[in-house]
Amino acid sequence: MELGRNMLKRIAAIVAFLTASLALALPLRAETLTVTSPDGAITLTVSDDGGLATYAVSHGEESVIAPSKLGMLFRDHHGFDRELAITGSQTATHDATWEQPWGERRFVRDHHNELSVTFSAQTGPARSITVRFRVFDTGLGFRYELAEQEAFTGEVNIMDELTQFGVGAESKAWYTPSDEFNRYEYIYRTGRAGDVDDAHTPVTFRNPAGVHISIHEAALVNYSGMSLEALRQGNFEARLRPGSDGIRVKTSAPFKTPWRTIQIAPDAAGLINSDIILNLNEPNKLGDVSWVEPGKYIGIWWAMHINERTWGNDGIHGATNEETRRYIDFAAEHGFAGVLVEGWNIGWDGDWFNNGALFNFTQAYPDFDLEELGRYARSKGVRIIGHHETSGDVSNYESQMEAAYDLYQSVGVAQVKTGYVADAGDISRVDENGVTKFEWHDSQFMVGHHLRAVKAAAKRQISINAHEPVKDTGLRRTYPNWMTREGARGMEFNAWGTPPNPTSHISTLAFTRMLAGPMDFTPGIFDLKPNERMPVREDMPRGDPSNRPQATLAKQLALYVVLYSPLQMAADLPENYERRMDAFQFIKDVPADWEESIALAGEVGEYVAIARQERDGDEWFLGAVTDGTPRTVEVPTDFLEAGKSYTAQFYVDGADAHWDTNPYDIVIESRTVTGGERLLLRLASSGGAAIRFIPVSE
Ligand code: NOJ
Ligand code: CA
Repeated sequence: MELGRNMLKRIAAIVAFLTASLALALPLRAETLTVTSPDGAITLTVSDDGGLATYAVSHGEESVIAPSKLGMLFRDHHGFDRELAITGSQTATHDATWEQPWGERRFVRDHHNELSVTFSAQTGPARSITVRFRVFDTGLGFRYELAEQEAFTGEVNIMDELTQFGVGAESKAWYTPSDEFNRYEYIYRTGRAGDVDDAHTPVTFRNPAGVHISIHEAALVNYSGMSLEALRQGNFEARLRPGSDGIRVKTSAPFKTPWRTIQIAPDAAGLINSDIILNLNEPNKLGDVSWVEPGKYIGIWWAMHINERTWGNDGIHGATNEETRRYIDFAAEHGFAGVLVEGWNIGWDGDWFNNGALFNFTQAYPDFDLEELGRYARSKGVRIIGHHETSGDVSNYESQMEAAYDLYQSVGVAQVKTGYVADAGDISRVDENGVTKFEWHDSQFMVGHHLRAVKAAAKRQISINAHEPVKDTGLRRTYPNWMTREGARGMEFNAWGTPPNPTSHISTLAFTRMLAGPMDFTPGIFDLKPNERMPVREDMPRGDPSNRPQATLAKQLALYVVLYSPLQMAADLPENYERRMDAFQFIKDVPADWEESIALAGEVGEYVAIARQERDGDEWFLGAVTDGTPRTVEVPTDFLEAGKSYTAQFYVDGADAHWDTNPYDIVIESRTVTGGERLLLRLASSGGAAIRFIPVSE
């Protein structure tokens, strides 16, 4: 028996040798492999024609990605660039449904066809790399997998990923630049793909045939963030953010890269109705996460942004015992779960932006009694939401992080907002030799830092909401305590942004940044001209009055449905809500956790309408917003039970509403809606509609 097996092995080896020699001796014949999405609409083609590893994607008859190169280059190893041949491939199909502990929908279906293709180098040291593709009905993802092999011993330094995305010069693009100082916080740019130099992902394109695509990545772990750089007009290459030493990724074999994702939809709304990013992440690694609590919060926050209070103790301190109690009382009275308190800890005085090293994350200012306020909050059924601003000094933070989370856990804090205010490329860290290095927010170092923080927080049953973060790539599936983040221009820009967020901002975010995951945008500003309030003190003058939310009051309400976040802030001052209790009722009623979500209609940058069903309940909510162009949007209510009666509470723009001249004109009324009925929503210039549907019990 043994002998027979050895003999067989030897024959197999000889055959393999002969085949390989033959392959080298003969001119290479290109191999082309294809796989389609389960519904057959998307076709992926992979080829080694001309010794190049390439892929192409079409949707129906339309080409979506022209043949585009794959590959990778290293510092100390031979790479995968040319003279490659397909030497193996496998296919698989998968169809399973999994459950989210919280999210925009409870059940997520992961239905895809998989093709993994191994490319082997035909010259130089023997080496191969596998590209695994997964094709869903709403797009595809692929990643590189480098197995352990002789040619890749020791540290592997990636110098370039050669992945290209040929979207075509005449596609229209919605994007933010990837290399400027403000991290991810820009007004979106729109134009021909052929005119884009570089872009952060997610980036959205619409090709001349009307097909929408969004390029991004999933499961960014132990790697650096990818942006797109134009090689030729409309043909982009993946660019990995280098570390301070110039190396883009430091790793070792075996390794897997993050998934490169291409969402594809015939219409804009289809981009939102896709779970590719989550499906390409690993399942929950934290076990029981019932301690992760979605909910709404208020906070000592906007007052600082509109210059009525200060973070530090060198002005009118916001985080005082008295002020915090006032917020806790308001939260308890109106059903908010949390009260964010910024500026409670030592380090904010003076130029905090540039003094990250001074932050102490366990020592409060003398006028803030963390323990007592934690107790007071809990006695009222509310939690304090913690805050750690690092100003980008990550080494200072990491040295205190565990102790800081311990302290918060001991006083009942279950959510911490973190912050990395520093210019892009200016995150400081002290390396193993004691030398200060500067890193980008999406560098491999920061990708690692965020996970270190999230894991350390999880040990204390604390959830994280990161501002100035690395972009979201769906890791909330694997680490459900990484609940939300910023990573785009949020509401704060309407306090001091000069210029503030334009009227098209929300309807652009919905089809770009929001495709990555939840955003802590901090909606709900009711005083729409915050810089026209009386200064509270001479030394705290008002800001530029052109900084204001360019939105109607109804649009502020619609944001709670349009912009998904499991931690959702009511960002304005309590006194501003007290003046508009009628409109505030919607914010009190709207949930932050959903059973189902459906994008109903929209066009990138113009308008969007989304419906969501509350978790564990029968109520539905609808949010619609438009840019500066007033429009009537017709939405079917097919999401409701057909023929069933609902009491619908409408919060919609009044007949004369206009974000600039008449932003407070709102109509709040109830009427019966039958499931399936079509609604006509009249949206004013930068207006919106927010609707709550309550089933009428028989
Ligand atoms: C920027 C954050 O986005 C904002 O929410 C926060 O108040 C400040 N940094 C201070 O940490
Ligand atoms: Ca910010």
